[in-house]
Parts: sequence; C-alpha cells; structure tokens
Amino acid sequence: MAYLQDDAHVLGAVRDAAFDGVICHMALMDIPDLAATIRSVGRVLRPGGWFVFAILHPCYHPPPSGEITAADGSIHRTVSGYFTEGFWRSDTRPGPPGKVGAYHRTLSTYVNALTDAGLILERLAEPPATPSLAARRPVWREVPAVLIARCGKGP
Ligand SMILES: C[S@@+](CC[C@H](N)C(=O)[O-])C[C@H]1O[C@@H](n2cnc3c(N)ncnc32)[C@H](O)[C@@H]1O
Repeated sequence: MAYLQDDAHVLGAVRDAAFDGVICHMALMDIPDLAATIRSVGRVLRPGGWFVFAILHPCYHPPPSGEITAADGSIHRTVSGYFTEGFWRSDTRPGPPGKVGAYHRTLSTYVNALTDAGLILERLAEPPATPSLAARRPVWREVPAVLIARCGKGP
C-alpha cells in the first residue's frame, strides 16, 4: 500500500492508465474544478477501468437548502437556488460548507463532466439514511443525503 498526496485537478505524479479503478469519497463537491478533476480520473484509468464516487446529493444540498417540520410533525427538506452553481459558504452549516466552503453543481453538470471525459455512467445509488444518521437527522429518511455513482471508461 502506498499513499501519495497530490492535486486531484492534475494528478501529476500518476502516469496515464495506471489504475484499474478510482474511488473518490465525499470530495468532488469540495474540489474547485470538476471538469479538470474528472479528466484527471479518466486519464489515470486504464481502458475498461472504473470510477466510483460519492457526493452530497446535489438536488438536496444547494446553498439555500434546509428543512421544516409541518404542523402534523412530518419533516420536509426544502431546496431553492438549485440552478446557481459555484462556491458557497455558510456559518450555519456543519462540515466543509461551514468551514472552508463548497461548490454547488447541478446533477447535469456532474453527468456531463463524466461524459466529456469519456466516462460512462453505469449505476446510481441514492441510499436512505443509516439508522444512526436517521436518529440524528430524520429528514434523511425522506430524501437521499448522498448520491453514489459508478462509471466505466470505454475500451
Ligand atoms: C469532505 S473531505 C473528504 C475526505 C475523505 N475523502 C473522506 O471521505 O473523509 C474533502 C476533501 O477534499 C480535499 N480536496 C479539496 N480540493 C482538493 C484537490 N484539488 N485535490 C485533492 N484533494 C482536494 C480536501 O482537502 C478534503 O480533504
């Protein structure tokens, strides 16, 4: 096992077609240039290789998103500003959006960046909250907090 620290935009220390697979866990929405990053992933994958990533679900995390509890006690995720892409930061948010900021992008921006880099979207998963997350944040029983994708690089 070897660990290498590098800029995901370039992956300059990694040769072309070096890997069978690439995993990016909860980071694409924190990296400034999505297109450059996905191109790097495509470059370091061998033909037929795979790319799996997990991100905050872009449909439920635009900057103005939140949640409300209705009179009957039901919990609803609220979203707005979906079409406004780019950097945002909020003092009221946990994690990177509250500390260093994050980058909101639409779902189509993610899919088109993959296609532009020659990566084919094969599977999506939108898992419901685990029991421990659901106990802390019941709204994530109603809509998916996370989007997971598997893509393939053509031959
Ligand atoms: C939410 S953290 C996720 C870290 C880890 N993958 C995990 O699941 O715990 C997002 C990470 O993206 C990293 N990041 C942001 N821009 C980057 C870049 N250009 N190249 C490599 N990593 C970057 C940050 O340093 C941060 O560690």
